[in-house]
Amino acid sequence: MTSRSSFRDVLEDIFLQTLKSRIFTNRDVLSHDYVPEELPHREEQIAKLGSVLAPALKGSKPNNVFIYGLTGTGKTAVTKYVLKRLVSKATEIGVGIDTCYVNTRQDDTTYRVILRLGECIGLKLPFTGISTAEAYRRFIKIADARNTIMIVVLDEIDFLIKKQGDELLYRLTRSGDELKNSKISVIGITNDLKLVEDLDPRVRSSLGEIELVFPPYNAIQLEDILRQRAKLAFYPEAISDDVISLCAALAAREHGDARRALDILRVAGEIAEREGVAKVTTDHVYKALKEIEKDRARELITTMPLHNKLVLLAIYILTKSGEKTTTGEVYSQYRSLCQILGIESVTQRRVSDIISELDMVGLINAQVVSRGRYGKTRIISLAIPYETVVEALKEDIYIAPLLSRYR
Ligand SMILES: Nc1ncnc2c1ncn2[C@@H]1O[C@H](COP(=O)(O)OP(=O)(O)O)[C@@H](O)[C@H]1O
Ligand SMILES: [Mg+2]
Repeated sequence: MTSRSSFRDVLEDIFLQTLKSRIFTNRDVLSHDYVPEELPHREEQIAKLGSVLAPALKGSKPNNVFIYGLTGTGKTAVTKYVLKRLVSKATEIGVGIDTCYVNTRQDDTTYRVILRLGECIGLKLPFTGISTAEAYRRFIKIADARNTIMIVVLDEIDFLIKKQGDELLYRLTRSGDELKNSKISVIGITNDLKLVEDLDPRVRSSLGEIELVFPPYNAIQLEDILRQRAKLAFYPEAISDDVISLCAALAAREHGDARRALDILRVAGEIAEREGVAKVTTDHVYKALKEIEKDRARELITTMPLHNKLVLLAIYILTKSGEKTTTGEVYSQYRSLCQILGIESVTQRRVSDIISELDMVGLINAQVVSRGRYGKTRIISLAIPYETVVEALKEDIYIAPLLSRYR
């Protein structure tokens, strides 16, 4: 009885705390998929995309557009905003425009993308049972029967291309040959600048009729973006200029990623709310940064393949008392871990590559040093807190028992 009533009290406390909190007026405007009415410092990209798409209002097929830039530079937000405005204009003047937004990180097979494209024009394709070619044929047939301009956005197309190649992209950008009444324009968006170079020239030339680059924001621009959003999200007394400047400066330190800036601001607000105080402080911002980095590391680790996890575990074991280690030591530690698990180990060469990968994503530091006539080695240490590594690795059912052996 007592335990139940104390449980209820805990929840009651949390609910009341949130209800009486005077931090957020509307936290949702800080979420990733919120599209703001104003997008400061993207006037140029908005105008350009708007003028490329505008001919659709008069029934002409807009040029295909290829948009690229690093994450958090406003590509998705700008594209959705321009499309929304275009559709509302089309409705106002009574012109039919179909738009379809597909994120190929979520829908990462050609078939699923076609399924989504179908949905946008009211075509229900079966989840299985027909070939991709057949699904595409049905989609084209219905699209053509609608006698409209269809604007297809394929966001984060690098995911689709890496997994399934560029066939769909190629066909969509050339769909003019198959359509008699309708026209399809494609907007392809990617965060991966390398993809731009690697893309098949025939696809690049048809997709990139127009190319639109989104440069990273600087700290001052991020401040403007945050200030505008903070006005919608927070009680005026809860937020201050120095908190906003700090969030902007911290996000600009990486590459001017507005998503990261907004994340830091949101989490700082959440921490202030949890603490039951009335004002977000710079202290909350630093705590938020730590929390976000921890979550990021955790996500990276839990989604790694087993052998990457084992190499990371080897590094953890060798460095947990504060020492640094070397490639050779890591390899033999890794091998003995594999032996304990009774699985085959990968080659030293592969382990060396894994070490580079771990270094690149920022989980470890691996510095190349020369050992004179013994050649080169790498001096390796963890770049994130030990507890974070342990917590994340513990989630793996193979690794968890190993971990308890080495605590
Ligand atoms: N110029 C801007 N003004 C206001 N918010 C912005 C601006 N640019 C980006 N954002 C916001 O930052 C976040 C990340 O932007 P997004 O468009 O998703 O970036 P990308 O698609 O380039 O990775 C979103 O929440 C978006 O609303
Ligand atoms: Mg995006």
